[in-house]
Amino acid sequence: MLVVGNWKMNLDLAAARQLTSAIASGIGSTDNVDVGVCPPFVDLDAVYAILHGSGIRLGAQNMHEADSGAYTGEISGPMLRAVGCHYVILGHSERRQFFGETNDGVSRKARKARSHRLVPIVCVGESLPQREAGDHERVVERQIQESLADIEISDASELVVAYEPVWAIGTGKTATPEQVASMHGHIRRLLEHLFGRAIGSEIPILYGGSVKPSNAEELFAQPDVDGGLIGGAALKAEDFLAIVNAARR
Ligand code: 13P
Repeated sequence: MLVVGNWKMNLDLAAARQLTSAIASGIGSTDNVDVGVCPPFVDLDAVYAILHGSGIRLGAQNMHEADSGAYTGEISGPMLRAVGCHYVILGHSERRQFFGETNDGVSRKARKARSHRLVPIVCVGESLPQREAGDHERVVERQIQESLADIEISDASELVVAYEPVWAIGTGKTATPEQVASMHGHIRRLLEHLFGRAIGSEIPILYGGSVKPSNAEELFAQPDVDGGLIGGAALKAEDFLAIVNAARR
């Protein structure tokens, strides 16, 4: 199981240090669960220093596809590696919605992330109108096929997929366990098709969207749910640690 906190555009340096210290001191062993946190870029270096030795891994929330150059305001894969990142979230629905990210762009970034030995956490998920129209499976299928086009991995630990239905993000409205199980099963079949059964059956598929301590255990118990990508509840150490504990059970 894998639990990753996506802090989004929250927490300045002091607050990031405080939360990281609380998580690192409360985590105990990471023997039977993988844990990651993805702070804003400006907090990465300080968070890494505190995480060191805790077993918790660092991730970023986005990455540019070039290694360096005239791309004002952007951050590259080598820069993320240099501050200790293991993961990079790519194609989050907020990036797709507010910053025009496309499946093609996500696939280029994901390939680039792999070339720098970063593990991409590639996000997919349908909007409410798409679900209501019964298009959710088709939408996610296309996102998976196009966002993961031409990525080469030799081990399932080199890629993570996160299913985050847009209507469940930050809304308090969680997808039902049945909806989650059904979509994760669909994604599993697509991954097996794309990467072959041996690897595709082992790539972690995270659920994201209003995961909290009270619903984590039931969601994590669904077939093909290998953990969670946590937004709001990752900003409170107590809640995040409770969700990590739910993944251990
Ligand atoms: P919430 O947990 O706040 O719904 O956010 C989920 C998410 O977008 C994680 O990437």
